Amino acid sequence: MLGTIVLFALAGSAAATAAIPHSDATIELTRRDPGLTNLDGSANITSLLAEASRLAHKYERNRLNWDTYSAMNEKGPTAKKMKKRGTAALTEQSHAVWTGKVNVGTPAQTFDVYFDTGSSDFTLSSPSCTANCNGKAHYAPADSSTSVRTGQTVSTNFVDGTTSRGAVFKDTVTLAGTTVTGQDVVAASSLSSTVGELESDGMGLAYPSLSAAGSTSFGLTMVQQKQYALYPYFSMMLSYGGRSEITFGGFNRARVLSGSSSYWFNATPDPNGVRTYWQMGLSVPYVGNTRAGGYTTHILDSGTTLIVTSPAQAAEFWAAVPGSAKYDDNFWSFPCASPPDVKFSFSRNTVFKYGVDQDAFNLGYLSSAPDRCIGAVIGQDLGIGTSWILGDAFPDETYPARQTLVDPIVVNWYVIHDALKNRIMLAQLRPGANS
Ligand SMILES: *[C@@H]1O[C@H](CO)[C@@H](O)[C@H](O)[C@H]1NC(C)=O
Repeated sequence: MLGTIVLFALAGSAAATAAIPHSDATIELTRRDPGLTNLDGSANITSLLAEASRLAHKYERNRLNWDTYSAMNEKGPTAKKMKKRGTAALTEQSHAVWTGKVNVGTPAQTFDVYFDTGSSDFTLSSPSCTANCNGKAHYAPADSSTSVRTGQTVSTNFVDGTTSRGAVFKDTVTLAGTTVTGQDVVAASSLSSTVGELESDGMGLAYPSLSAAGSTSFGLTMVQQKQYALYPYFSMMLSYGGRSEITFGGFNRARVLSGSSSYWFNATPDPNGVRTYWQMGLSVPYVGNTRAGGYTTHILDSGTTLIVTSPAQAAEFWAAVPGSAKYDDNFWSFPCASPPDVKFSFSRNTVFKYGVDQDAFNLGYLSSAPDRCIGAVIGQDLGIGTSWILGDAFPDETYPARQTLVDPIVVNWYVIHDALKNRIMLAQLRPGANS
């Protein structure tokens, strides 16, 4: 119980009001601005290209981890034992932007970490970390009476020539009032420069197949150990300017519009039947009421700022946007004065379409042509076929003017991940919940 009280105090936020049930299960998140839009409102092309490149690295590593994971599952227990001694890729967290507090070990060591639903490893820097760990809080397994060394190490060589390495420990982790034991934690001994420049470390929340160590991520461990207060869920409310938060063991009723139409979508496994991302199949993008692509899978990724699909799919999407023009290999522009009405439907459910906030969709105007703006849907070959990644530009919705119950185009979401039944709910936000 002490852990709960400590964490609650750390949250130190408006969560402490009586109006919010189970407030100890919720922590406030802080947003790091990835700098895609300059202060004058123009698009920062350098940052956008860097973001696209980081994204490519992240999804490549996820894919490498998946390869290892599925190869081992085919070959059975012997291969599994080999993996425990082997090496695999570490996940980079640099594009993740939502940070909050987590306690690791006994006595508790406290960290600010990124919450990334698009990867699966929990990585902290160790005291012996030699490269790019400056300014990071260190996880010292030796100072934790509950830490257990697994003997497994993970490492990856990045395309840019840098390397990340770490040893896998199991330890007690407390997050938003929820405590699990034996959670895999990677204690990094060196970090790639792309990770090292950041102030904090990352917690992935996707499925084990994307983890370098084959680890079960916190939200799933919580369910396996039945450590949830109310429901086997973890839930996120993300906002650019207002309050953002994550809840484990349920959802924050105070954030959800009661009586609103909510719908569970199955979190679909990949075509091989392996669970990977929090994703929904049979999904379609729309521009206005026009379908702007075929049925495919859409991945919810809190660690990505953009909406990304393959170059061919992106071209098909942008062809449906009036006045659009290709800017370069990745990006397209649209007339700033008439932003497109971008929506998605999931699981062949055509009753509810989920809209993208027009401000979030606009990444800034072009300095060379100020009446043209760069759009958040970009084309990038990430090796995920025709799938789409819906990053922050998707679930971060603050558009109350369009929020009416008679309008089936729901534009404000609260995202609930059911880690037991593997399903996702996009619930409508109570007006003002995230302001
Ligand atoms: C664009 O972002 C980079 C960092 O990625 C920054 O150094 C640069 O100053 C930004 N450009 C402008 C015009 O603000």
